[in-house]
Amino acid sequence: MAEHDENSSFIKTPQQLITIVLLAFVAAIVGIVLTVQLVLNRPHADPAALSADAVSARLQPVGKVEFSAAGAAGVANAPKLGDKAAWAPRLKLGLNGLLQAVVKGKGAMPARAGTSLTDHELGSAIVFMANQAGGNLKEPTPVKK
Ligand code: HEM
Repeated sequence: MAEHDENSSFIKTPQQLITIVLLAFVAAIVGIVLTVQLVLNRPHADPAALSADAVSARLQPVGKVEFSAAGAAGVANAPKLGDKAAWAPRLKLGLNGLLQAVVKGKGAMPARAGTSLTDHELGSAIVFMANQAGGNLKEPTPVKK
């Protein structure tokens, strides 16, 4: 009986054979096409993301403080070294007056300018700064111990 022949195939006619062979080709080609598309269209990094501008924009700190016209006026209105206009009224305070302002702190300048310098060291710095702006202050005399 032919139905029970283990070697019999479900392909009985030449048309079936041709159909199966064509389907096999089509399936293989579709598979190749899809694979090629997968490789070519793989999501890739945006090349513009690596431009210097984009990189530096990403590297920005989370926040930043800007002082208005900082270049012209010094940090938070600190009198700039050598800025005669800014120092002229201050020179009138004399070394002691200026030292008091620095020791106590003034405006955005913290007490002792945020340092642990001695009065004498702060005084020397003040003399240097004041004299850079046309002042004529004398070095403070060292405190006798
Ligand atoms: C050893 C370091 C420093 C010295 C000797 C010094 C000295 C001075 C002096 C003599 C004045 C003028 C004070 C007056 O007008 O009566 C001044 C003003 C000022 N300093 Fe300093 N300073 C020092 C550091 C700093 C620092 C670190 C800052 C910023 C954090 C700063 C910010 C200022 C500001 C904002 C003013 C203007 C204050 C105002 O007129 O409102 N200073 N400083």
